[in-house]
Amino acid sequence: MKRTITIEKLIRPVIHVLKGYQSAREEFVGSDRKMILLDANENPFETGINRYPDPLQNNLKDRISRVKNIPPTSIFLGNGSDELINLLMIAFCEPKDEEIMIVPPTFGMYQVSANLNGVAVIEVPLINDFQLDVDEIIAQATDRTKMIFIPTPNNPSGNRFPMEDLEKIIQKFPGLVVIDEAYAEFSPGETAVDWLTQYENIIVLQTFSKAQGLAGVRVGMAFAKQDIIEVLNKIKAPYNLNVLSQQAVFDRLDNPDIVAAEVKLLLEFKQNLVVELQKISFVKNIYPSDANFILIRFDDSTLRYNQLIEKGIVVRNPSKQKSCENTLRITIGTDTENLALINAFKAMDK
Ligand SMILES: Cc1ncc(COP(=O)(O)O)c(C=O)c1O
Repeated sequence: MKRTITIEKLIRPVIHVLKGYQSAREEFVGSDRKMILLDANENPFETGINRYPDPLQNNLKDRISRVKNIPPTSIFLGNGSDELINLLMIAFCEPKDEEIMIVPPTFGMYQVSANLNGVAVIEVPLINDFQLDVDEIIAQATDRTKMIFIPTPNNPSGNRFPMEDLEKIIQKFPGLVVIDEAYAEFSPGETAVDWLTQYENIIVLQTFSKAQGLAGVRVGMAFAKQDIIEVLNKIKAPYNLNVLSQQAVFDRLDNPDIVAAEVKLLLEFKQNLVVELQKISFVKNIYPSDANFILIRFDDSTLRYNQLIEKGIVVRNPSKQKSCENTLRITIGTDTENLALINAFKAMDK
């Protein structure tokens, strides 16, 4: 039997009754009539950036809607995925009373954002070399567990989770399932976006920070049913996405071939890097990666981390995370950077 989840019941009561900030201009955005804008105390002399941006980024959403084949009403844009994660926490989790679930080792911002918002975190660790413990996730969820955050491909392990596992969680979890596809472009194929019409309780996050090459402009996307998007619109800062960032995204979307070529190249570099890493004696395990980074187990990750720093190379040391003892997470760089990395390891191996 199909389960129905009422989003209205998941929203925090204070947010449900909240009346969001309304800019006087909102009702005229998108109209063909040219208005004289004397409502927002801006400097009227045109520079291209003297006006506040469209609060709802309608033009950019239309553009993304065509690229992704998702209606604009199902799209929310924010200042990086970080803002989206924080807004989700504010919208759905009652401080001191409700909780989120995470599946460590996982992306650190879910926990940070929960802590900042006074929301408890329950952990259901990955098992069997970084797979979802589906039965335990379902068993541990209660009515107070408002959201589960699942990055796929996962950070820091790099693997995608099977779609069957994700779907089972979506079908059984009592709250919202946030599927964070920050690295989706590096393993194209199945995406949870295809489930948006089917399930009420999913939110898919994607970002312009990784494959799209725009980490510096901070633009993240959330895709969900309209009632979830409307809550996020109500609680966001009025002008959360600045004009320059929006322009950078338009420019990038005009050049999809560049992104495709860069992704192809990075995947080739990744393969080459794996071949070279396999020759290093103190590399103990290289985990399969569907992303633009690799998790590698070393003899002594802190020693290797410090040695790399001495050689001017910074990697990530997630060794304190669950099941990540003695690992480093290494991003795929340019050809030259990857060569420098391998040469550094070879020099330590003498
Ligand atoms: C799984 C995951 N989600 C989100 C992000 C952050 O994305 P953004 O730059 O859009 O805030 C990262 C960055 O490392 C990530 O690994």
